[in-house]
Amino acid sequence: MRKQIAAANWKMNLSLQEGETLLETIIKQDGNLSDNRKVVFAVPAPYLVMAVGKIASEPHIHVAAQNVYSKKSGAYTGETSVAMLASIGVDHAIIGHSERREYFNESNQLLAEKVKICLEENITPIFCCGEALPVREANGQNDFVTRQLEESLFNLPAEQIVKVVIAYEPIWAIGTGKTASSDQAQEMHAHIRSQFAAKYGDEVANSISILYGGSVKASNAKDIFGKPDVDGGLVGGSSLIADEFIAIIKALK
Ligand code: PGA
Repeated sequence: MRKQIAAANWKMNLSLQEGETLLETIIKQDGNLSDNRKVVFAVPAPYLVMAVGKIASEPHIHVAAQNVYSKKSGAYTGETSVAMLASIGVDHAIIGHSERREYFNESNQLLAEKVKICLEENITPIFCCGEALPVREANGQNDFVTRQLEESLFNLPAEQIVKVVIAYEPIWAIGTGKTASSDQAQEMHAHIRSQFAAKYGDEVANSISILYGGSVKASNAKDIFGKPDVDGGLVGGSSLIADEFIAIIKALK
C-alpha cells in the first residue's frame, strides 16, 4: 500500500537553534506514525546533519535535502552531491520545486538528471510539479503537468518509478494563502495517477504517493488529505509552526 506522507519544507527559514527547537517539539508528539505513514523534514543544507541526528531513533521520520546537484562529484563550487547527502544519512530530496524552476531556471531535462542521480544513491526524490495561474485560467493544467512528468520521469523503468514521490503544487497556491479546493486537488491527483497508469499500469500507479502542496494548514489538511488520490502534503509556511505541523501530521489518512 502506498504511504501517507507529511513533508515539511522549511525553505530558507529559521536559525539552527530555532530549527532544533521546532524539530524536538514535533518529534516529541505522538503522531501515530506507522509503516503506512511517514514524516519528512526538508531542512536547509547547513542543518541536515543536526536533523539526521535528532531523528536517529525515529523509524518513520526522515530528513530531506531541498535540492541536489545533477553531477556525481567534481569541481562544482557550492553544490551538494547525492553521495554527500547519503553519507550523512539523508534519504529524501525535494526535486524541481517551483521556486527552483522559477529562480534557478531548472528545466524538465535537468530535473530528469537530478531524479536519476538521487535514485542511484537510494535517495527518494520528492518530485514537484504544478502549473502557474495563467495555465490554470486557460484550463491547460492537465497537459502542463503531463509534460513535466513525461520529460522528467517517464524515461525511468517501472522498478525505479515506484520509488519516486510526487508533489503536486499549483504555483498559484504556494505561499499565497490560496489553497486549491480539495476537489481541484483530487481532480489533478487522479489525472496524475491516470498518467502513471497509462505508462506503467495500474499496480505501479496505485503504489505511488502523490502529495498536495500549496497553503496546506491545520484547518484544511483533513479535507484535502481525505480525498482518495491525495496521499498527504508538502507543507511550507505551516511547517514552521509546531502546533500547525503536528495537526497536519495527525490529519494523514
Ligand atoms: P506553502 O508552501 O505551504 O507555504 O504554500 C508549499 C511549498 O512550497 O512546498
